Formats: sequence, structure tokens, C-alpha cells
Amino acid sequence: MLPRITAEIARNQGWISFARYMELALHAPGGYYAGGARKFGAQGDFVTAPELGRLFGRTLARQLKALLSDPPAILEVGAGSGALAHTLLEELKCEYFILETSADLRDRQRQRLGHRATWLDSLPQRFRGVIVANEVVDAMPVHAVAWRAQGIMERGVAADGERLLWKDRPATGVLLEEASKIVPPVPYESEIGLAGPAWLRSLAERLEQGAILVIDYGFPRHEYYHPQRAAGTLMCHHRHQAHGDVFARPGAEDLTAHVDFSALAEAARAAGLDVLGYATQAQFLVNCGITDVLGEANVENALHYAPLAAEANKLLSPAEMGELFKVLAVGRGVEKPLLGFAHNDRSHTL
Ligand SMILES: C[S@@+](CC[C@H](N)C(=O)[O-])C[C@H]1O[C@@H](n2cnc3c(N)ncnc32)[C@H](O)[C@@H]1O
Repeated sequence: MLPRITAEIARNQGWISFARYMELALHAPGGYYAGGARKFGAQGDFVTAPELGRLFGRTLARQLKALLSDPPAILEVGAGSGALAHTLLEELKCEYFILETSADLRDRQRQRLGHRATWLDSLPQRFRGVIVANEVVDAMPVHAVAWRAQGIMERGVAADGERLLWKDRPATGVLLEEASKIVPPVPYESEIGLAGPAWLRSLAERLEQGAILVIDYGFPRHEYYHPQRAAGTLMCHHRHQAHGDVFARPGAEDLTAHVDFSALAEAARAAGLDVLGYATQAQFLVNCGITDVLGEANVENALHYAPLAAEANKLLSPAEMGELFKVLAVGRGVEKPLLGFAHNDRSHTL
């Protein structure tokens, strides 16, 4: 992957945007998601909620069941190993569509799910049903921006031989426009995702009736660009270690940015959707009845119950995924309140 990146930098007068770098490192041929690396689970680089076990999917299914209309249909974007699809198909009777950019992961999903799902090559022109994206938006390219005394700069990528390095340029166009709306104390560095909101807008425009659930780690804008978060949110994940050296192993490790949920909510509203709810993952799962799902397990059987309790702790604990991860629901023609946001809906913070 590195030779491809340095060649592209050379062709572009020695500079590419960070968003382009992220797109190459993650999604181009030879990129992290395009390649055959293990990625998920104990042997991989990171563990997502559906990879922990079935508790997340079984609880989420309660919300999805309430949202499904006739004919019931789910579209999962970025289905990873197919773990969430597997659980949801056990819990719900519905058509299940998957939109997956990685050919390698599409193959793995096909092996796991067989004829129970249908894979789409592009966004459908029109869709009625529920769209789910778990930990997908954090993998969408973001621009790196620096607010400095001399003005707003776009942080791009240059090369010194085989070594990649940061190189600033004055920000221009839409990026400058978006960055000018944020006024952090200088010097300050962070990210602005244009791809995530654009993706949500295109989904929203095609949604005739139903809801879109985006689940990921991130914040509303005022927390995202908090004075104390002056170094941004870029993070690499390799064999369960997180680090901030984004040029260390392009293509061989995961590279992510936290999600600005306010930007997603604005994109949805601009496309005519309603914001149906926004909550921490812990609150959402509790509202959906995770304790009832746990209660269905045999508490007497420690061998069975202990891993389930550990899974619940990981999903709910503020020190793990409970607080950092959020659930945003937007939609058209859907009655409020939704089960998952019945208590402590935080939409007003977006
Ligand atoms: C971190 S993984 C999460 C996988 C799964 N949702 C889970 O929770 O285990 C990100 C997934 O999103 C896919 N992906 C990234 N960008 C995408 C896009 N623009 N459209 C569809 N899939 C995308 C990746 O190939 C991968 O399957």
C-alpha cells in the first residue's frame, strides 16, 4: 500500500489530503478493508459489539421489530463478519439486504449467511424499512484540519522517500466553510468528516419510509470540538492496541475517527428526515430491555451466564462501550417515541 500512496503523492505535486490518504489506506485495493486481514475478534485488531456475542443483536432486534413495516426489510451497511446479520436473522422474520464495500468481507458474509441475505452493489434507488450501520461511519474518510494563529489549515500527507509526513496547506472551499463554523482555542487540531454526512444524505434521499440507525463512537459537535480535545480523534487499531501514529502501517491496520453526530443529524434533517432519537449505547440497550434479554438466560448455569454477564458489562459499562458509543436514529414516517429512546433521549444536544 505504501508505494501506491507515495506514487499518488508524487503525481499530485507532493501532497494529498488526509481524507484521500484514509480512503487509500482503508478502502483501495490493498487497503485494510479490501485485504484479507483477520480484523475482527480475539485474533484480529478490534472487537465490535456484535462480535462479543448475541446480546447486542438480540436487544437491538427488539427496536428493529417495532420499526419494521410491511414487507419487513432491513438494510445493513458495512456488515463486517456478518455477526449482527446472523443474530438479527435468528430473531426477526424479514428480508435482509447488505451493502458492503469490501469484496473480502462480502465473501466472508456470504459464507456465513448463504441465501438468507441479499447483497447490493450500490444504494437502492428507493427503500422502505430499517437501515443499520454499526461502526461504519468511523471508517469513512475525514479531513484533518488545524486552527492556527495564521488561519485555518488543511493537514495533508507528503512523503520524504518512504516516510509519510504531515504537511499543511491553507484550507479552501467547503472544508474552509465548515471549519470556519468551529471556533476552538488556537492552536487546535481535529477532523471534519464530509463523507459521513454525504453518505447519510444519500441514504436519506432514498428512504421512502422507515428509519436509519447509526451506532458508533462519537459525540455531539460541542463535545467533539471541546477545547480539551485539541489533538483530534484519529486512532489506529492493531492487535487490540490503539495508537495515534496514523502513518505507521497504512493498509495493515484500522484507521478511524470519532463521529460528529451533530453533522449526521443536520444532513438527515436537510434531506427531510426527522431525528427520532439520540442516546448512549448503554441507555439505548437498557431502554430496549437488555435486562429482560439477560433474564431469559439460565442464571444457575454459571458456565453459560458468566460470559453473558461479561458481554453485558462490556456493552453497558461507561469505562467500556456504554458511554462513548452512541445510537442516532433518523427517519421518515415513523411515530415517536421509539423504544430505545423512551428515557433520556439526548437529541436536544445535537
Ligand atoms: C469496523 S467494521 C464494522 C463491521 C460490523 N458492522 C460490526 O459491527 O462488526 C466496518 C465495516 O464497514 C464497511 N464499510 C466501510 N465503509 C463503507 C461504506 N461506505 N459502505 C459500506 N460499507 C462500508 C467495512 O468494509 C466493514 O465491513
